[in-house]
Amino acid sequence: MASGRRKIAVIGAGNVGATCAFVLAQMKVADIVLLDIFEGFAKGKALDMSQNSNVLNYDGTITGTADYNDIAGSDVVVVTSGFPRKPGMSREDLIGKNAEIISQVGAGIRDHAPDSTVIMVTNPLDLMTYHMQKVTGFPTNRVIGQAGVLDSARMAHFIALELNCAEEDISPMVLGGHGDTMVPLPRYTTVGGIPITQLIPEDRIEAISARTAGGGGEIVKLLERGSAFYAPGSAAAIMAESVLNDRRRVIPASCYLTGQYGLDDVYIGVPCIIGANGVEKIFELDLTDSELESLQGSAHFYKGQLKDILGY
Ligand code: LAC
Repeated sequence: MASGRRKIAVIGAGNVGATCAFVLAQMKVADIVLLDIFEGFAKGKALDMSQNSNVLNYDGTITGTADYNDIAGSDVVVVTSGFPRKPGMSREDLIGKNAEIISQVGAGIRDHAPDSTVIMVTNPLDLMTYHMQKVTGFPTNRVIGQAGVLDSARMAHFIALELNCAEEDISPMVLGGHGDTMVPLPRYTTVGGIPITQLIPEDRIEAISARTAGGGGEIVKLLERGSAFYAPGSAAAIMAESVLNDRRRVIPASCYLTGQYGLDDVYIGVPCIIGANGVEKIFELDLTDSELESLQGSAHFYKGQLKDILGY
């Protein structure tokens, strides 16, 4: 880039991609390329955001394109392409259609941005992240799935409602797959350093965990068409920024496991450090038998889908 600034590509200019680009623009961390198969859609949104530069005071460029040549040199690529859920659908119902899209997007990234770190948002998240890693052949640390930030943020919001306290003082922890099998971890969720197990009665924690696991579905039902995008898009932007600025944020994300938690050859949500090399470190928490069983159950569910549906 002539500007010498860093570069982020966001693939898919739908609601999640556009929100992610918009949040990144306000962070002023990089030039942004918004790519969509519908060129006018990408160009129109990029122009609309660009015209907002003076109002919101961001200086990087935002350009729209349908051409993978334009993502060359990207440090980070956020992938949001694919179909969202409709009411009554699970994320896994999207697997066939979205896997085909990810095959094409992955080839474009592999050929044009071979040194990038990829942040996946497309559902079913953990499966599409695995598929993306296979298609690109990138080292597993450079292909990461976004879900833990979103699922944890949802849990934090419900805790804030429960305690009537500031959201920023909540450190939530949700592991497992981004689906019905996700594993909210109250023992590792704190408010101002205090575990919520000391602040909220057990039945209320169970209700918060259940609402967290169904958080995306609750919004799909309300919207009637499409799914959530403000929080998913912003969560992906936070991860992209942690890579770009080597922030080394400690967050749950869908990472490739090689024996941690008794699991291997699967992408699943675990706490990790996200920095310049993507996943810099995976933390293995001390889990109770039932917590570990839930995490392993979630991973085995996805392993089954990888084998039976995607043929891995
Ligand atoms: C959600 C979708 C984006 O959880 O997976 O809202």
